[in-house]
Amino acid sequence: MHDFKFKKKRLFAEDVDLAQIVNNVGTPAFVYSRKTLLDRFNEIKNAFKKIDPLICYSMKANSNLSICKLLVKEGAGLDIVSGGELYRAKKVKVAAKKIVFASVGKTDEEITEAIKSNILFFNVESISELKRINVIAKDLKKKQKVAIRVNPDVDAKTHHYITTAKKQNKFGVDIKTTNSIFLTYAKKLKNIDICCIHIHIGSQITTISPFVQAVKKTVALIDGLNSKGACITHLNIGGGLGIIYKDEKPQTVEQYAKAIMPIIKNKGLKLIMEPGRFIAGNSGVLLTKIIHVKETSVKRFYIIDAAMNDLLRPAFYEAYHEIVATKKTKGKKKKSADIVGAVCESGDFLAKGRQLPDDLKQNDILAVMSAGAYGFSMSSNYNSRKRAAEVLVSGKKYQLIRRRESYSDLIRNEIVVNI
Ligand code: LLP
Repeated sequence: MHDFKFKKKRLFAEDVDLAQIVNNVGTPAFVYSRKTLLDRFNEIKNAFKKIDPLICYSMKANSNLSICKLLVKEGAGLDIVSGGELYRAKKVKVAAKKIVFASVGKTDEEITEAIKSNILFFNVESISELKRINVIAKDLKKKQKVAIRVNPDVDAKTHHYITTAKKQNKFGVDIKTTNSIFLTYAKKLKNIDICCIHIHIGSQITTISPFVQAVKKTVALIDGLNSKGACITHLNIGGGLGIIYKDEKPQTVEQYAKAIMPIIKNKGLKLIMEPGRFIAGNSGVLLTKIIHVKETSVKRFYIIDAAMNDLLRPAFYEAYHEIVATKKTKGKKKKSADIVGAVCESGDFLAKGRQLPDDLKQNDILAVMSAGAYGFSMSSNYNSRKRAAEVLVSGKKYQLIRRRESYSDLIRNEIVVNI
């Protein structure tokens, strides 16, 4: 599943002892495995190899330039959601025709930049946006390909914060509106070419049926539209594949491919996918040091040098991340503890009521597992905390891929005025 394993009581990333990284880089630090990243990407590629889809890695999961570059070199396209991600995409020199751009709120500036960059598709989320893209494309004397992001109204059965395809969600347009877009606008808006339907039903989905339901609904919609004169050539099925954080039993990517491919067989559609978590999630850990062990009358706290500003998922979604000591201790007995950061919020925890060896002590290093996706990319400077360093391991080697922030980074853009 990933390349973080114990070798004689010490946790390694591939062939690098994590203690070595801690000594040289310090904590907190995100450490990624190059091999796991590539393996996960290639698992998808191989499972779908019969139909050779365009796999656009969803940068929001982890947009570190070295990680994006690694995946782009392996053949990935990129799924972006902002001008900032477009800027990053250009930095890693991905072919423009492998970029797809989603977001419910693309600004004129972002639309202009993306059209000028010759991206493959905008994934359009409203009629208002569709018209805006047409106007801007006209000004630029271009014809822009777009996808309509359809909200298929299926329940992805995942956390309510990361479900995106219910009627109540802000994403996409419903099937009725999609039909009327084709009737009313497809011919009228001369500077856009609507040739793709996009769906993304949620994230961390562990059962296959919502995917199947959504793709079936979408293919039926495409059939209907094409029979009425539309020319839809691409289907983008988004991301959403769940991974193992604890004891989930998500579908394998082979099962996913076997369920999806027959639905689109013989439809002549080019498939696009946007996996994020599946590629990056299990490929990274967050290393953190125990600063204090605090015993109260009711429980033990391990206070660590990482916090919710480094890894927001537990605080935000009550997400579970496995936590292990990087050096196996002698302690056979386990003791329940909360693992918390130093941020001034009761919600600042990385784990609650976790059974850990009872002899853990100050300065011991913990690894928060499966922190490669939506870890660093959701981190912040809350409480004026410097964001963590990032390191990429490859075999016996490791390289810093983002320096730990400095205090001067924290105030770089501030202007002290006399008032
Ligand atoms: N495509 C679109 C349009 C998306 O909105 C997303 C994720 C993806 C692809 C990638 O989905 P994935 O394959 O990673 O499931 N911060 C949350 C996850 C938010 C996902 C947002 N959209 C978390 O930490 O669980």
